[in-house]
Amino acid sequence: MTKNLIYEKTLIVLKSLLVPEIFLDMSTIIANLVNILKENFPNFSWVGFYYYSEEKEILYLGPFVGKLACNIIPITKGVCGEAARKKETILIKDVNKIPYHIACDNSSKSEIVIPLLIKNKLIGVLDIDSYILNNFDEIDYDYLNKIINNIKSYIEK
Ligand code: SME
Repeated sequence: MTKNLIYEKTLIVLKSLLVPEIFLDMSTIIANLVNILKENFPNFSWVGFYYYSEEKEILYLGPFVGKLACNIIPITKGVCGEAARKKETILIKDVNKIPYHIACDNSSKSEIVIPLLIKNKLIGVLDIDSYILNNFDEIDYDYLNKIINNIKSYIEK
């Protein structure tokens, strides 16, 4: 199955959860999302969500699937911090070329981080790692942003 098709399938499953009649809270949605992604993409070694604390200026670990990872990331650090500060998706094809990358798992080779903003406020970042170099491309970029936008629309309603 192509990557596009797996993402299309993932979107269908996600949309079936995000029905307006049943209000799911953020943690339930995020827990489902990280599980669906990890389940459907064997190339993803770790999928998790870091919540943002404006008061403490940190990202703290929420639902995740994979090995134990850093619980707290200061907003000034890491690829996650960069995505949070810039409020934009950061795609890293080779983490070893990024000096500020935080290696929670030394086997990680590539990474993508997508911020979630609700009504222009940063809620946190979806972080996905892979043991494969260059695993993420514009297909992942576009679909993961589409996925996050679906969640954003659901919560903003
Ligand atoms: N690599 C991330 C840290 C989180 S772990 O990948 C789960 C970063 O540089 O921010």
